[in-house]
Amino acid sequence: MKLLLSSMLLSVSLSAIAQSTVIATDGMVFNPTANHAHSEIAIIPEPVTVIKQEGHFILPQSILIHAPKSTELKQSITFLQERLGIPTGYFVSSTAAASTSANIKLVLTDRNDALIGSEGYHLQVTPQQITITANKPAGIFYGVQTLMQLLPKEIESKEEVKDIKWQIPCINITDYPRLGWRGLMFDVARHFFTKEEVKQYIDAMVRYKYNILHLHLTDDEGWRIEIKGYPKLTEVGAWNVKRVGTFGNFIPPKPDEPRNYGGFYTQEDLKELVAYAKDRFVNILPEVDVPGHSLAAIASYPELSCTPEAVNYKVRSGERIMDWSRGAPPLAMVDNTLCPANEKVYEFLDTVVAQVAKIFPFEYMHMGGDEAPHNYWEKNPQIAELMKRENLKTMAQVQGYFERRLEKIVAKHGKRFMAWDEVLEGGVSQSTAVMSWRDMKYGVEAAKNKHEVVMSPTQYAYLDYMQADEITEPKVYKGLRLSRTYEFDPVPEGVDPKYIKGGQGNLWTEQVYNIRQAEYMTWPRGFALAESVWSPKEKKNWKNFFSRTEQHFGRLDIAETKYAPSVYDPIFNVKRTADGKLLVTLSTEVEDLDIYYSFDNSFPDQFYPKYTEPLVVPIDANTLRVITYRGKKPIGRMMNMPVEELNKRAPIKK
Ligand code: ACM
Repeated sequence: MKLLLSSMLLSVSLSAIAQSTVIATDGMVFNPTANHAHSEIAIIPEPVTVIKQEGHFILPQSILIHAPKSTELKQSITFLQERLGIPTGYFVSSTAAASTSANIKLVLTDRNDALIGSEGYHLQVTPQQITITANKPAGIFYGVQTLMQLLPKEIESKEEVKDIKWQIPCINITDYPRLGWRGLMFDVARHFFTKEEVKQYIDAMVRYKYNILHLHLTDDEGWRIEIKGYPKLTEVGAWNVKRVGTFGNFIPPKPDEPRNYGGFYTQEDLKELVAYAKDRFVNILPEVDVPGHSLAAIASYPELSCTPEAVNYKVRSGERIMDWSRGAPPLAMVDNTLCPANEKVYEFLDTVVAQVAKIFPFEYMHMGGDEAPHNYWEKNPQIAELMKRENLKTMAQVQGYFERRLEKIVAKHGKRFMAWDEVLEGGVSQSTAVMSWRDMKYGVEAAKNKHEVVMSPTQYAYLDYMQADEITEPKVYKGLRLSRTYEFDPVPEGVDPKYIKGGQGNLWTEQVYNIRQAEYMTWPRGFALAESVWSPKEKKNWKNFFSRTEQHFGRLDIAETKYAPSVYDPIFNVKRTADGKLLVTLSTEVEDLDIYYSFDNSFPDQFYPKYTEPLVVPIDANTLRVITYRGKKPIGRMMNMPVEELNKRAPIKK
């Protein structure tokens, strides 16, 4: 890449540099500023080709959108009218009639442009006009999202902002996605999120060109879908006792505690969500998680289990019900499985699938299949009989029998069957689409066996994991930092790309109690995942991505969408010296930060010692406090690391 960067430019002030994006001869834009300076062009996910031109388009006070095929483009027109109109206070109108004075032209091609496919677009901005061209309405919509990101960040405001020059740099962009399945999973079962909150989640996804919202609608803690003919699913199954603290070890509810925490969606609510998502080119993938994770259904209809004690079961309130000490699958302490040997279960699932299939037009239906404990099945006479009758040798095969029958039900109702990767173990048909979560290797294996695969592996895509050290993050059993998420490649070497539909991030909500925290867990890792599924692999670059991420923090601030600042928190590594002292190494994910520290309990700032080499912890210290700065500005959170915790992390060897 040859840069047209003059040495003079280097001597001018930072803010001036920020205005001068330099064009490389190969069409890539190079931003010469350091990570933190503002750049006019900071698009996430990074487009395929960006060519910056001279000059700007300035939004006039009366904005005219010209869309010849206006009926097909109504979503993009409405979106633009609202999203340009509110923050600017300008008048935005649209016309289908030919117009020479149009400011924004939305053009659907007459002849297919093979390069950009069904979701790609060309965006051209000149001082006179903005033109977005695409083969399909989805492409126009994604072009509109890019356009929004080229406007000043105040365009994200929910109210009018005065005294902003609403300008857009002149530019030529050609863009299309790497993968067709670009998803986020939102677990609305562990904690319930209202219809309005789900819409808020969709609004945020849309900015980053996600096109699938996977709703995890049922689990041990709640059944969230109204099913006609099974009213107890939502009268009983949608409610538990609120607890806070460490999930899995919550204080078990007392028999007389009111079960009033939770909620559910009526079928009308869900149809409304489907329509809301569709208007934003998002499909909703519903998940009904069976045969495991089914305690809410069993507490409502104990006859779906083949365990007689199930009549006493209650919807889980986060108390311990599984023993993971032997690894997966877990040992169940209560039987949270639907019984594969019980015909009533298949009748029940037929009703559920029939109704869910009518609500959600998306072609796939996700039926769970993960983490089904087998220990209750092992001692059950009905299961033993089933095994004999069907010649099943293992519990995995019992689950395989269940999954194959379930796939037939799903197919009968016109849908394609998708499930978590465990279902491969019991033998499923090749038409089962697999969502690979335990590791990339299950997805790779599934693709080798010609299953369609969506990659959502824990090691890159689990949005419930902590984003930094557990002394600052809400505690979860594992961590996943932004830079690691950014390494996600849904199409690993050696796999036939034709079987990889795409990738997605999964937000489980055991420890997520409200929508603000759901957003905190999703962003900025959701930026990294969006870029992993949309942008060309060869354009991915952590440093460049992080500089754009920081600009998007500013946009999310204005949009009032929460995000985690955890990327600025230092990483602690603790060792023992030969003579038994604690030695702490600090590092950061981001390059240009300084770390200041104290051992004397006071709060460090930029006048305190700067971290330059591993720290020996003084013998009588009780807290190591650290904070990151960029220049003179505090940027990370104050982290208070108890020396007791450091001792735990590097125990003295006896
Ligand atoms: C999963 O995380 N149990 C799919």
